[in-house]
Formats: sequence, C-alpha cells, structure tokens
Amino acid sequence: DDPSGARVFNLEIKSGTTPLKEGRETATWGVNGNFLGPTIRAKRGEEVAFSVYNGLDEGTSIHWHGMHLPAVMDGGPHQEVEPGGSWTPQWTLNQPAATLWYHPHPHGRTGSHVYKGLAGMFIVDDEESEALPLPATYGVDDLPMIVQDRNLDGDNQFEDGGSFLSMQGILGDQITVNGTLGPYVDVTTRLVRLRLLNGSVSRLYNFGFDDDRAFRLIATDGGLLPEAWETDRLQLSPGERAEIVVAFAPGETAVLRSYPADEGYTSPLGRVNGADDLLDVCEFRAAETLTDDTEVPAAMGAAPDLDPAEAVEEREFSLSGFNQINGEAMDLQRIDFGVREGTVELWEVSNADGYMHNFHVHDVQFQVVAVDGEEPPPRLRGWKDTVQLVPQRRYQLALRFADYTDPDLPYMYHCHILAHEDSGMMGQFVVL
Ligand code: C2O
Ligand code: CU
Ligand code: CU
Repeated sequence: DDPSGARVFNLEIKSGTTPLKEGRETATWGVNGNFLGPTIRAKRGEEVAFSVYNGLDEGTSIHWHGMHLPAVMDGGPHQEVEPGGSWTPQWTLNQPAATLWYHPHPHGRTGSHVYKGLAGMFIVDDEESEALPLPATYGVDDLPMIVQDRNLDGDNQFEDGGSFLSMQGILGDQITVNGTLGPYVDVTTRLVRLRLLNGSVSRLYNFGFDDDRAFRLIATDGGLLPEAWETDRLQLSPGERAEIVVAFAPGETAVLRSYPADEGYTSPLGRVNGADDLLDVCEFRAAETLTDDTEVPAAMGAAPDLDPAEAVEEREFSLSGFNQINGEAMDLQRIDFGVREGTVELWEVSNADGYMHNFHVHDVQFQVVAVDGEEPPPRLRGWKDTVQLVPQRRYQLALRFADYTDPDLPYMYHCHILAHEDSGMMGQFVVL
C-alpha cells in the first residue's frame, strides 16, 4: 500500500526461458517471471496503482482489457513504455466483479508480444459476488485458465509464422493452460468454477467435455449473469472470457476439449482457419471423496439494462478485408469519432468477410441488443467487451461511456484476432 491508500502492484516485464517440454528450454516473455504474468486481484471501490517496468529491449505496454478507466491509464498504443522505462497508472475500480485480463498493446506488435507470453488475469471482486455461495477458493475450486495455442519447432522454440492459407494468423497445435503443456487438475470439490480466457492470438475455441457433460455458464466478459445457463458447448473467440461451473463425480476423469466450431465460418475457409480442429485442453482428475459445500445460486449478477431507445447516436462498423473497419485501416493520428460522456449509443457491427472477426471496445462493457434483428443467444446476454462476429451477421450493441472524459487521448475498438488488429483493423474514439 502507498500513503494515498492505493493498493500498489509492481510489474516487471521481462524475457527468459521456460521448461515447457523435455529438451531445450523455450524462450518466453513474462511479467514478474519468465512466462505469462501473475493474477491481479482487487475489489470494487479500491484504488489500484501500478508500477510497470519494461525490462525488454523493445517498447511495449500493458492494457487492462475489459477495465473501465481513464483513457490515459488504458495502456493502449498511446501509452507505450520504452525499454528500461516505467509507467505508473492508477485508478479506482468501479465495475461489477468480473474476470478481466491484461496484455501488451504496442502499435502493430500486440500479436507477437502476447504470443511470446505477455498476458495475465485481472480479477475484480465486489461485495455482492463475495456473498454468493459459488465456488470461490482460488486455485482449489476457482481456477484461472488462460488457454492458448502455440507451435513449437524442433528446438522447442515458438514458431510465429502463420500458415499462408490462414486468414487468421498463427494457429498452434500445442495447447497451453496457464503456460503449461498437457495440463491436469486434481479436483477435490464436487463443483469447480473455471475462469476461461481465450488468450490465443487467433484461435477460436469451442469448449466442451469429452463425455459431453453439461456445465453452467455463470459469467461473461463483464461479470456474473443474472442466472446460470446450462450448455455442453461454449464458443470463445480471442480475448473473450467466460466463467463456467462444472460438476464432478468422485474418482472420475474428464477432459475439457475444444471441438470443431459450430459457427463462425463459411466453408471452405473453416479448415485452414482451425474450425475443424479437435484439441484436448485440460484433464480433470477427481479425488475419491469430494467436498460439496458450494452451489450455483438462482440469482447472481444484474442483467444489462441499457435502453436502446435512449440512444443519442447510432453508428455502423463494417469489418472487412483483413485490416479495415469502414474501409479504413488504423491511423494513430486519426480520431475516428467522439462520444458524449454519460450517453447511450447504438452500434451496429458486421463482418463483411467469409471468415471470423470479433469486435472489442475499450473502457466499457456493452450489451448485445440484437443479432440480425433477433434476441441474442443466452451466452451473449450478459455484459460483454468482446463479441464474435459470424460472417454476414449484424450485431447491435448498446454502450454507455461514463465517468471519464479526455478530448485528446483515445480509446480503441478493434478486431481481437491479433494479426488483424496489428495490420490495422482498429479505430480510435474519444469520450467528450
Ligand atoms: Cu485485449 Cu485493445 O485489447
Ligand atoms: Cu481491451
Ligand atoms: Cu478480424
């Protein structure tokens, strides 16, 4: 803690090596360690202060994905930290409990920095979520799961060339969870909560268990759902998070997998973009006796409650051609528009290509109001900051930009397939 009462976190970005696989160590990047970064956890109402030191020999940044904060603290391409330099953002957490994450956002190099290992979780708690009977013992029945894919060469080094056929960039066949290959979990409780983060640069996951057991989706990007939704598959595009609760029986083993995508591609582009892949993600090994003192309550978070009828502005965004939004590629010097603080806007976002894009907006959690004019599916009914865009569908989003204004420094909106983002599928807005 510092004298002002803020909770202080020191983060050091560095390069190193990691024993991923037998043989030669893999060159990796990490935060306060050699690979990935620590889980940051703080509570709504707390002031957090960071000292971010860049120990790399190139510029980078740390962006707080999903966080509601002033643009100058956002950690986007305008807040790059030079090699050997430091950055000290500080803000007060003011949003519901949620599983957020952090990652670099340097202009044109986000994909390579994330792929090398710079990513971590940022868990926000609040009074309401702490009072619920959900599984909540971190590392025991409440597990962070940063799911990523990588390619290893014969020397165990990350290969970052994408297939020239793929429109998405790198698709690896080696799945890591929290930086571990071939991971398993020793389960000691009947109910386990998984905080899933698609931390991949390009891959779409369609999570499900090997025996097709049902599980309950309890939270999306921005926090807990009003009520759980039971399903046996859950698709997450890069950058999206979901919290699920799974039940295990004593002594059993179950494997979390990624199944072929159930939507997102028009053939024949699916196969070269990984949509047909079946991958094991993590094995769960249940003990012979399991404790059973948690439950999924009937009521959890608050439903998104923006009123589209109150929108003061409507905007359209069409993603196309690998690197463009509304026909233009990102330009750091160009602010695309300004929104009024405190007002609701309606954005209609569409994917004009035949392969996957998604859409992420900084500073806010938004409400998916409609998909092609219809009520969104249950997995899109909670607060979201990133939404998958199935080709040729139109997504209507309601957003409210509150609290922070800055006429000069912008926030970003972009495709979170990082090869697309880095080549320019991004724009900038200011809150006035
Ligand atoms: Cu997760 Cu603009 O980023
Ligand atoms: Cu973000
Ligand atoms: Cu894209």
